[in-house]
Amino acid sequence: MTTREAGALVLGDPRFAKDIEHWAAYRDGKIPADWPLLFIIEGKGLLTTDGDTHRRLRRPVQQAISPRRVRELTPRVEAVIGRLLDGLAAVPAGQPVDLQQEFALPLPLEVICHLLGVPEDGGLRAQLHELSMAAMNSEATAEDTLHTVGERFPATLMALIEDKRARGDEDDLTMELVAALDAGELSVAEVIGNLVTTIIGGHETTVNLICAAVRGLLTHPEALAAVRARQAAGENPWPDVVEEALRWDSPVRNVMFRYALEDVPVADGAVIRTGEAVLVPVPAIQRCPHAFTEPDTFRPGRPDAARHIAFGIGAHRCPGASLARVEAELALRRLFDTFPDLALVPGTGTERVPSLSINGSRELPVVPRPAAAAPVAAAG
Ligand code: HEM
Repeated sequence: MTTREAGALVLGDPRFAKDIEHWAAYRDGKIPADWPLLFIIEGKGLLTTDGDTHRRLRRPVQQAISPRRVRELTPRVEAVIGRLLDGLAAVPAGQPVDLQQEFALPLPLEVICHLLGVPEDGGLRAQLHELSMAAMNSEATAEDTLHTVGERFPATLMALIEDKRARGDEDDLTMELVAALDAGELSVAEVIGNLVTTIIGGHETTVNLICAAVRGLLTHPEALAAVRARQAAGENPWPDVVEEALRWDSPVRNVMFRYALEDVPVADGAVIRTGEAVLVPVPAIQRCPHAFTEPDTFRPGRPDAARHIAFGIGAHRCPGASLARVEAELALRRLFDTFPDLALVPGTGTERVPSLSINGSRELPVVPRPAAAAPVAAAG
């Protein structure tokens, strides 16, 4: 299903549930045990439960990324951006660099790791990214996925928890979940599941948002010129850039399965039958010409921008949306201010990561300062 109305209905309507027990094919034993996705959607976590269980799991995560927490985090976000931009400023004029590896990825990875109290040294942050990529890889075998999601990820997080307990850490999301565990409100599996969802959701999406916005602006010179004109007039155009990037190239490829609790008519006479599983393909929906005028054009400030569904709808709507927006807005403003002549390396950055749920490229080669451009000011 690829119309915006049908997608919004499936995401937001309580006639669709997330618990796999509502999937008729699964209940009837028709899903092969070695189907790689099965292990991910079978577990009982934030994205695979409904009602009271889901609310209980979501509460601590939502509190940890409340608007107040996001405001408190902003100076840290600024500091990380400044450091990463200094690194880019050291790249000689005319030399390309992978903006994804050097800027768009380390920013959200550092922010989410800070939120979770993951130590900066010791390589654990890079390891969590590697585990996230492996967990999201739709080309992995069932055996590999089981090894990643069932063994390596939990073992790494259990070691982190033990380490943090020993150090007496407190006041971060990991320790808030541990407190809920100690109080009997969450099980060990639920704590690990929440951590995995927050780690993956907290950085594998924001990196793609930043890259999509950069690609959108650099492939649409008229949009970049309009953004610069608004900035020169004292406006802040970056929130509009972020909303348009969310629409134009959604960081999520498919919002994972929901199951119909009853027959639900969607559009054009189509009906989703009781017990059927539905994926919501966000990028296709957000290029739907019935929902968005000239959907392939990147146009920040478009009147229909608010119709995007990139953060989902309803009970599972992304609790990290305001954090992602803050990170992307600040990152983009500082990047384009620091490197006014930033340019894409033509013909690169088109290969996508092999994932059913994440929509992003493997790399984003750019030249921060084309050879003929003026020297850059310190990132500050
Ligand atoms: C551009 C960035 C992001 C996008 C596009 C995005 C998108 C989404 C979407 C579409 C969902 C709903 C899934 C569903 O309905 O089945 C979701 C859920 C979630 N996201 Fe995000 N997300 C982003 C950033 C973040 C960040 C920064 C965090 C954490 C700091 C985060 C944590 C979560 C969590 C924990 C859930 C599960 C919520 C639930 O099931 O109740 N996300 N996200």
